[in-house]
Amino acid sequence: MTDQDTILLTGATGNIGARLLVELLGCGDNVRIAVLVRGKSEQDARNRLNANLRLIAPDLVDWGSTRSIEVLCGDITSSDLGLTPHMRERITRSVTHVIHAAASTQWHLPLTCARAVNVAGTTNMLQFAKEAHRVGRLQRFVYLSTAYVCGEKTGTIREIEHRGELRFANTYEQTKWEAEQQVISASDDLPVTVVRPSITVGDSRTGLAVTFNVLYPPLRYILTGKLARLTCPPQNRLDLVPVDYVARAVAHLTLHSKPPSGAIFHLTAGPDRSLPIAEIVKKALSLAGMGSDRLPLMNNESSRDEAGANAGGNHKVMALMRLYASYLQIERDFDDTNTRAALKDSGIDLPHLSQYLEALLRTFICREIEPAERRIASLAAGGRR
Ligand SMILES: NC(=O)c1ccc[n+]([C@@H]2O[C@H](COP(=O)([O-])OP(=O)(O)OC[C@H]3O[C@@H](n4cnc5c(N)ncnc54)[C@H](OP(=O)(O)O)[C@@H]3O)[C@@H](O)[C@H]2O)c1
Repeated sequence: MTDQDTILLTGATGNIGARLLVELLGCGDNVRIAVLVRGKSEQDARNRLNANLRLIAPDLVDWGSTRSIEVLCGDITSSDLGLTPHMRERITRSVTHVIHAAASTQWHLPLTCARAVNVAGTTNMLQFAKEAHRVGRLQRFVYLSTAYVCGEKTGTIREIEHRGELRFANTYEQTKWEAEQQVISASDDLPVTVVRPSITVGDSRTGLAVTFNVLYPPLRYILTGKLARLTCPPQNRLDLVPVDYVARAVAHLTLHSKPPSGAIFHLTAGPDRSLPIAEIVKKALSLAGMGSDRLPLMNNESSRDEAGANAGGNHKVMALMRLYASYLQIERDFDDTNTRAALKDSGIDLPHLSQYLEALLRTFICREIEPAERRIASLAAGGRR
């Protein structure tokens, strides 16, 4: 790390980006942070940033620590990133590290829409980074990919480039893979690092998340009685990682590690730090006081279209469960040998899911399920009057 590092972070209003920003703020006075955030104006972009940070780190916002963050109002889908020529010139010359975390994370956007953000947005960020490397001080471009660029491969998934015939479960996976390919192709001209988190959940100590997505929507349906059964082999494990681990690991890999350009790191739990889906669901049911035998998990021999057939005909729930079929049904074993080596002696450890599952679920139930139930109860009471 040099005396004055300037990190440009995209995606700072997202789940991982917001936690990463908090982590980077703790990296010392020598680290300056600029964030590229969408907004109607710089002030609007800052307000959006602060609103999300207030959820996960209220003290930072209330004590004014976020004032030291330079907020660049922009958009990765614009070839100039939506920056004025003056602003772009200044940041091109000053930036030392780019962390590109912005993406469209919806799974089933039409391919052209997903490509516009995930592929074209990454092209624009790479273009900017190459310029900053040529005329300025850029040392590294870090790309947040996903462990699921492996598509529907099964078995052990290694930290290598995935080539050949890949089948993707959705346009998100496909466009993240296409973007990753661009990043790897740039590795001769630019020092690049590819980081692939798996399913990222709330903070391991507080359970907090900016938005409760990916793992949480099916749990929400189960805990509100809208989904009676899951169609998946009960012993299948979901590969979950807490957002604080992802943020700490990305910050370390960006600032303190000098891997060869194009190196790939899995931020994944693997089978030895995961739990079977059945245990996760049972724990959620028991913490919500619903009795853990309420949800028999089916051994799945059925087609994907039947994945949501246990949703009592609720089309919204059925459609959502179809999106989850590949994640629930395919058993994968993510290998993270590179990451373990790079984080050795860093003090950054990924806990076993059993150590933080309760904190995760308690916060989710307390913030998302109980308030919704109270709203329904009060609506029902209002209706009876
Ligand atoms: N969460 C996971 O489980 C997971 C797992 C593996 C990999 N990842 C990867 O990690 C990264 C962060 O994921 P996340 O879960 O934090 O995503 P997220 O919560 O959906 O946030 C996405 C971020 O990207 C920004 N963004 C989207 N389109 C943009 C645009 N055109 N210009 C500028 N910013 C834009 C969003 O800004 P707005 O606030 O303006 O929408 C938001 O800050 C992504 O690259 C994702 O693919 C996530």
